[in-house]
Amino acid sequence: MGAERLRGVVALDGPSGTGKSTVARRLARQLKAGYLDTGAMYRAATLAVLRAGLDPSAAAAIPVAVGAVIEVGTDPAEPSVRLGGEDVASEIRGERVTSAVSAVSAHPSVRERLVDEQRRIIGSVLAGDRHGIVVEGRDIGTVVAPDATLKVYLTASAEVRANRRGSQDRRAGRGGDQASALVAVQRRDALDSGRATSPLRPAEDAVILDTTELDVSGVLTALRALAAERGLVEHGQRGHAP
Ligand code: DC
Repeated sequence: MGAERLRGVVALDGPSGTGKSTVARRLARQLKAGYLDTGAMYRAATLAVLRAGLDPSAAAAIPVAVGAVIEVGTDPAEPSVRLGGEDVASEIRGERVTSAVSAVSAHPSVRERLVDEQRRIIGSVLAGDRHGIVVEGRDIGTVVAPDATLKVYLTASAEVRANRRGSQDRRAGRGGDQASALVAVQRRDALDSGRATSPLRPAEDAVILDTTELDVSGVLTALRALAAERGLVEHGQRGHAP
């Protein structure tokens, strides 16, 4: 690979199963940028609420989610998520967290807290050795980084997204059939798009990219072309250290 590097922020939003995480990580690796998985932060906050034995929609869940000590790594080669110092990367992908995360992420003060933290992380990556970052989530282009030079909203049909989520779950040994994957994807879409605070929706200036007919490399090619078009890709010396 050459010495192409990303400068600035790429905001990648969209519902579950659009291939967001895979392409966000790969894009960040290819362009020697940082990577931030904001969904992992909402998931870790949700795990804190569940471990406290609280109802995720109840007001009592708010201080626990807001007070959770969450650390996320920004190296796309090894993303990490810690809750109170414990590695929870695998536990936050399980069914228990997945079905409760929309309720926890609908609390405005939980969002406020995590959005502040996300902005802080983005700022520190941009000020460090990597001058670019790919940030994935639901409200990156609308709320977290409204000034991002490139905002992409990934979509795909609910059936294709459920298929992708289902195979991802089976690969991770979480089982589950296609029909229930479809129901779960549709339920989470409805909750994430219907909430009052920062609902899932494309930013007005986002490029909408439908991935129904595209594989991962097709999506990456499209994203790299968009990033280059916006002047976000620097061509450094070959072999220049990241
Ligand atoms: O991307 P994911 O499936 O890991 O996200 C988990 C949930 O977190 C998703 O259902 C909604 C919420 N979320 C959010 O509200 N805002 C974000 N920026 C990222 C995720």
